[in-house]
Amino acid sequence: MNIKIKTQNVHLYYGDFHALKDISVGMYEKAVTALIGPSGCGKSTFLRLFNRMNDLIDNVKITGEITIDQKNIYQIKQSHIDNLRRNVGMVFQKPNPFPKTIFENVAYGLRVNGINQEKVISDQVELSLRQAALWEEVKDKLKKSAFELSGGQQQRLCIARALAVEPSILLMDEPASALDPISTAKIEELIFELKKDYTILIVTHNMQQAGRISDYTGFFLNGELIEFDETKTIFTNPKNNKTESYITGRFG
Ligand SMILES: Nc1ncnc2c1ncn2[C@@H]1O[C@H](COP(=O)(O)OP(=O)(O)OP(=O)(O)O)[C@@H](O)[C@H]1O
Ligand SMILES: [Mg+2]
Repeated sequence: MNIKIKTQNVHLYYGDFHALKDISVGMYEKAVTALIGPSGCGKSTFLRLFNRMNDLIDNVKITGEITIDQKNIYQIKQSHIDNLRRNVGMVFQKPNPFPKTIFENVAYGLRVNGINQEKVISDQVELSLRQAALWEEVKDKLKKSAFELSGGQQQRLCIARALAVEPSILLMDEPASALDPISTAKIEELIFELKKDYTILIVTHNMQQAGRISDYTGFFLNGELIEFDETKTIFTNPKNNKTESYITGRFG
């Protein structure tokens, strides 16, 4: 498998606070990588490196090298950051649909990208909703407000919205933590399907979930990446005793 995303000696500071410490890791294309670790250890911060969302926060300093497809994403022109964000979709913990119709939520990114043929848009909306395993539930109410959907449906809508602009990477920050077990199972099945086409990084606090859905797992503690390996190794035979303590529930 190819390495899609790579960090080399990455440090991130929020002002004086050293939030990511010397992170060097390669993450594989078309695989699911889970990021685990106690609250505040830097998982979301790490995820936000790859769509340069940390740039939007004041007083952030980042050093080291971060590449996607061998390109340093911190050495691109300002005008190419929009392309980067198109290529790197993100889904958050709480579903955050726009106050628009179901259809327009998914069409939004296409319109922003200057696509204006209605047929192209409606085909892509349908495809994205199908990929997000939501089409059957919403096909008869596309003109209804997104807020009329359940939480689990709203989250799948947000996934469809992210997929519509055809990214190659999907960042998911605890995408199922606010959902019931049935919706969670749907999101997990969906992630399994999506990894055929996408490189997925997912933050989760749920060890069973990480074990079920990911191929690789990184364990973070206090801003350090303590261990990164195949998921089955992390969960059955971790090399670092801090990893072992965490996954067996002794802290965090
Ligand atoms: N915008 C910010 N400004 C200053 N400090 C921040 C900011 N965002 C995060 N931090 C700090 O950086 C550290 C890592 O935060 P981060 O949100 O990445 O943790 P996390 O592992 O995602 O935690 P959780 O599991 O609770 O979501 C924390 O100590 C946090 O307080
Ligand atoms: Mg977080």
